[in-house]
Amino acid sequence: MPHLLSTSSTLKSCFSRPFTQSTSQQHTTDYPRCFTFKTSGYKCNGLVLQQDPSSHRSSVPASREAPATNPRSGSSQAAAADGLPKAQKVMVIGGDGYCGWATALHLSNKGYEVAIVDSLVRRLFDHQLGLDSLTPIASIHNRIRRWKSLTGKTIELYVGDICDFEFLEEAFRSFQPDAAVHFGEQRSAPYSMIDRSRAIFTQHNNVIGTLNVLFAIKEFQQDCHLVKLGTMGEYGTPNIDIEEGYITITHNGRTDTLPYPKQASSFYHLSKVHDSHNIAFTCKAWGIRATDLNQGVVYGVRTEETEMHEELQNRLDYDAVFGTALNRFCVQAAVGHPLTVYGKGGQTRGYLDIRDTVQCVELAIANPGRPGEFRVFNQFTEQFSVNELASLVTNAGKKVGLDVKTTSVPNPRVEAEEHYYNAKHTKLIELGLQPHLLSDSLLDSLLNFAVKYKDRVDTKQIMPSVSWKSIGSKPKTLTS
Ligand SMILES: NC(=O)c1ccc[n+]([C@@H]2O[C@H](COP(=O)([O-])OP(=O)(O)OC[C@H]3O[C@@H](n4cnc5c(N)ncnc54)[C@H](O)[C@@H]3O)[C@@H](O)[C@H]2O)c1
Repeated sequence: MPHLLSTSSTLKSCFSRPFTQSTSQQHTTDYPRCFTFKTSGYKCNGLVLQQDPSSHRSSVPASREAPATNPRSGSSQAAAADGLPKAQKVMVIGGDGYCGWATALHLSNKGYEVAIVDSLVRRLFDHQLGLDSLTPIASIHNRIRRWKSLTGKTIELYVGDICDFEFLEEAFRSFQPDAAVHFGEQRSAPYSMIDRSRAIFTQHNNVIGTLNVLFAIKEFQQDCHLVKLGTMGEYGTPNIDIEEGYITITHNGRTDTLPYPKQASSFYHLSKVHDSHNIAFTCKAWGIRATDLNQGVVYGVRTEETEMHEELQNRLDYDAVFGTALNRFCVQAAVGHPLTVYGKGGQTRGYLDIRDTVQCVELAIANPGRPGEFRVFNQFTEQFSVNELASLVTNAGKKVGLDVKTTSVPNPRVEAEEHYYNAKHTKLIELGLQPHLLSDSLLDSLLNFAVKYKDRVDTKQIMPSVSWKSIGSKPKTLTS
């Protein structure tokens, strides 16, 4: 079954004000396989929803709704009384995505003023590839309205592409963030390995988007702390311990502390390496303060805030393109599909609960580095091999009455299947991270969650359909 749309179309974004033709040259961002989202060429790019037209501040219409029915916590002053150093304005770029949505809600709940910036392209990928979240998710507008009605808190919304600098400039000038948390990237390694157009899209979207954020900070908000989501995958699997960002090396009698070597293993992971280099350089050159959170594989779906209402529910990807290991295994177990272990299954990585993702980001924001400092934190709590995960899910499955089988699938990736892996992850713990470790009870609840939504699973999306070796220059249509 073809999963990609084959007709050409132009997506028109909605504008909150009349179009005004800009004198600047029109740029377009090419979305792979036939979608072209014209992002520039008008003074107002993307969708910036107005809260108070006279002040040019932007927010969602939810801010005009009736007062909160059940405010859980008060204004930014109340947050300060709760012990936060100071209420801050945090821009969450990619705030409609898996990690970003949970983080935006968490920070809002903690008393930060939050604005989400998102192009909604992640939802477009699903439409293009015929995929869907296991969990039904509300539109970003309904999510934010629901949050407002439950808590009284406003989350501002800027819909647009951060590769479009005019849009980003408007968002920065209008919101004036103290911290920008940058989740807004194409984050699937398999997606980046489908074909040339996806490889190029991924690197363009991620590298140019991050460069634009760096320029926006330099030009409009120099004290803004950039908290950027990197990935543990940047390091690869070296045969020595992985340090947190830097390694001290003695070579020919001289010693220096240098960035830890990077060995990325997909065009996606390479985009994150390029980002890290650009951020490190601009910290040195322009005095930007930045924290690169090299995140491990995230699992889980619930956080304190997302479980407050169905409309706040987070997405959960189980397909072979966007799904991540443990989430996928739980859904496979729920629908009676054998767990798909790639190759020998000795691939070992760092993992963390989504409740720890939001905690780590908050810790990074609350403890910013100095101007010019490029901090690197390894953001995960435990490491597992794929075989270990399969056996944990099999045992947890038994307890909830599931007969879980495992199958070995030819590895579509190019990666070591048995290797040494020992990555440091102490800096966030030192800042106060209290990890939610992967316990049986957590697995049970994730499994029960997967069982609850198992009728929504399209089992054709489970087996891998993207091969690292067979990537080619021709646009590829994925087949089941
Ligand atoms: N999910 C994981 O297990 C994991 C692991 C390690 C690192 N990370 C990193 O964390 C970040 C978030 O991951 P996620 O799982 O939430 O991804 P996601 O795809 O669910 O969310 C990313 C969001 O960014 C938006 N976006 C993408 N490009 C954009 C652009 N140019 N302009 C504006 N918005 C844009 C998307 O629409 C989406 O809502 C990514 O940078 C990813 O590399 C994630």
